[in-house]
Amino acid sequence: MNKPIYHITPEKGWMNDPNGLVEYNGVYHVFYQADPEHLINENIGWGHKISSDLLHWEECQPALLPDQSYDRDGCFTGSAVIKDDKMYLLYTGHVNQESGYIETQNLAVSKDGIHFEKYDGNPVIKNPPADTTMRFRDPKIWEKNGNYYAVIGGETEDKCGKVVYYRSRDLQEYTYCGVFADSDGSIGNMWECPNFVQIGNTDVLIISPKGLEKENGFSASFESGYMTGKMNYEEGMFSHASYKKLDHGFDFYAPQVMECGDRKILFAWFAIPDSPGKEMEDGWRHLLTIPRELKVASDNSLLMTPIEELKKLRTKVLEKTVPGASWNCNIENQPLELLLTGRYEELCFEIADKNESLLELTLKKDNIVLKQKREDGWQIRTCSYYDDIMRKLQIYMDYSTIEVFINDGRYVFSSRIYPVGSLDFRINAAADNEDGSLKIYSLSL
Ligand code: FRU
Repeated sequence: MNKPIYHITPEKGWMNDPNGLVEYNGVYHVFYQADPEHLINENIGWGHKISSDLLHWEECQPALLPDQSYDRDGCFTGSAVIKDDKMYLLYTGHVNQESGYIETQNLAVSKDGIHFEKYDGNPVIKNPPADTTMRFRDPKIWEKNGNYYAVIGGETEDKCGKVVYYRSRDLQEYTYCGVFADSDGSIGNMWECPNFVQIGNTDVLIISPKGLEKENGFSASFESGYMTGKMNYEEGMFSHASYKKLDHGFDFYAPQVMECGDRKILFAWFAIPDSPGKEMEDGWRHLLTIPRELKVASDNSLLMTPIEELKKLRTKVLEKTVPGASWNCNIENQPLELLLTGRYEELCFEIADKNESLLELTLKKDNIVLKQKREDGWQIRTCSYYDDIMRKLQIYMDYSTIEVFINDGRYVFSSRIYPVGSLDFRINAAADNEDGSLKIYSLSL
C-alpha cells in the first residue's frame, strides 16, 4: 500500500492523538501519542515532528518516554505552552494497578524544543478532584492575563462525561477551580482530550466523548464535538451553547488546536479507537488529519477549512470541466484534491475502485449522507443540512484517506478508504449547472 505523503504518519508502529501542538520560535511542533515498537498502544510515549511550513515534517527524537514511576504505563495526551522562552509540556502519567489505574498530571520542560526534562516535583496534579473517577487525563493548558489554566477530561462517579479545570501562576503549583463543563450522561461517560481556544470573541471547548450510546442518537461510541460560549475568568464560569459534532466521517477523534496568533489550526487523530488501519500490514498504523483552520460562523458553528498552505501542493490539473448533470472520470489513485464549485441543490458524488463502489456522498434538501463500504459492510453517517445550496465541495485524498469539506468547512467528513487500482469518480446532480466548475489536481510535496 502507498503511504500517504502530505499527512503526518508514524515512520513505524502505532500513532494516536496529536499532542502539544505549538508554534515555538517560528517552528511548528506536532507531538503525538506513539508506540514505534508495536502496532497497538502498548508502551505509549510522545513522538515529535517539526515543520516550518505545515507541509514538510521532520522527525525528531521521541520527546517523552514512559520511564518514571508516575508514567511507567504511558505518557498520555497533553499540551504545550511557552513561558520565558522555554517550552513546557503538561501531560498525563498513566500507571496500571491490579484493578484500574492511576492518572496524574506531569510537567516536562525544554530550552530548545527538542530535548525534554521531566520536572523533579512531578506529579504536579496528584489526584483527581472529588466526584471524579480515576479517568482523569489529557490536560490542555493556556495562558490568560498572567495565569495558566488547564482543562482536564474526566468522568463523574455517576459515569457522566465532564471537564474540570485548574489555575497556576508558575506551571508547578495548581489550584483546583471546579467543573468547567459537564453533562447529564447523555453525551458519553468520559470526555477525553478537552481543548479550549478563543477564536475572535468566541470561546470554544472541544471534547472527545467516549461511551456514546446509539439510543441517544450517536452513530458510534466515540466522536468529537464542541461547545461555543464565553469564559468569564473573574467568576470562573464558562457559559456555552449545546454540544455539536465536529466532523461527520468515520475516522476522526481527539483533535487538538495549535494557536498561531489569530490563526487556530486543528489536527485530529485520523481514526477512532475502533478503526482498523489496513496499513498494519506495512508496519505502521494510523495518522493525523490534514491541518484545518478554525473559524466561527455567524450562527456560532465552528468551520474547519483546509489550511491555505495546502494549495502549494497542487502540481498538475488532471481534469477541468463543467460537470453538467452527470459526469464521471477515471484517475489513478494518487494524492489529489478535487474542487467542485457552483450551485447545487442536490448532488450525489460517488467513488468506485476497479472492483466495486466504495463511497457515496448524497446531499439532499435537509441532510447529507455519507455511505461507505467498511470492513463490516456498508455503513452510513448522516448530518443535518441547513444551507440551501451547495457552493463548494472540496475533497482531499492521499492514497488511503478522504477528507470532504462542504461549503468552506461547514460540513466535514473524514474517513479512511482503501481503493484497489484506479479511482472512478461520478457526480449526479439534480440539474445541469452551467456555472459549475470541477477541477482535480494531483498533489505532491
Ligand atoms: C484518546 C486517549 C486519551 C489518552 C490517550 C492514550 O484517544 O484515550 O484519553 O490520553 O488516548 O493514548
